[in-house]
Amino acid sequence: MAKLLQIAIDGPASAGKSTIAKLVAHNLNYVYCDTGAMYRSVTWAAIQKDIPLDNELELEKVLDDITIKFVPSEDGQQVFVNNQEVTKEIRMPKISNNVSTVAAQVAVRKYLTDLQQKIASAGGIVMDGRDIGTTVLPDADIKIFMVASVKERALRRYKENISKGIDTPLAILEQEIEKRDYKDSTRSISPLVKAEDAIKLDTTNLTIEQVIVKIMKIIEKKA
Ligand code: CDP
Ligand code: CDP
Repeated sequence: MAKLLQIAIDGPASAGKSTIAKLVAHNLNYVYCDTGAMYRSVTWAAIQKDIPLDNELELEKVLDDITIKFVPSEDGQQVFVNNQEVTKEIRMPKISNNVSTVAAQVAVRKYLTDLQQKIASAGGIVMDGRDIGTTVLPDADIKIFMVASVKERALRRYKENISKGIDTPLAILEQEIEKRDYKDSTRSISPLVKAEDAIKLDTTNLTIEQVIVKIMKIIEKKA
């Protein structure tokens, strides 16, 4: 039987990580784990409790009684926090614009990193995020660092928003993405950075299908 691999896909916002990770997991019949949705879930729970989002002690209380559940669905997966469905809510601007603050807190990172390592321990997993190849799964069999220009990433987010009926100007999206990239790459704990042994993949001019072909080739070489 083929070895069940651990595949880590990291990179900045809207580089295409979750779209690609989901499809790769589907192709291989592996589990897909969206770690960004976990940071978004903690942010959602903290906002519900109306606590200061940079207050580590208060965040620890949120972590004490949080349950985050992913349920596979036709168009991806549903996310439940404390048994409430939050799939759409966690993608809203209020969460996107605050998640990097919550994700910079040590207690939150420790809690979610432990959880992610448990989920990945049996292998057969594609996990995407910011620190999977560097911190969560430093021994992952395959590490991809996915990038694309800020302009292309903002345009992708813009098109995605329009399809959901959200019309945020492109220039604003560009600013938001740059701000989040900056916060994620400059935090002191587990910043967004390419692991030394990760393969950098620039998707600026690539379609989803072209990216999949490239990644499947990398996987075939390894398997
Ligand atoms: O989908 P998008 O790229 O917009 O973001 P995401 O993957 O849902 O992640 C949301 C935020 O969670 C990121 O901007 C990071 O602040 C944080 N995050 C993190 O710190 N570490 C991870 N492994 C995943 C996400
Ligand atoms: O997870 P991440 O934030 O890195 O990006 P995503 O949510 O997977 O992708 C953001 C948007 O870009 C989605 O609407 C994808 O369909 C689109 N995309 C694309 O147009 N071309 C690619 N090569 C990858 C993603």
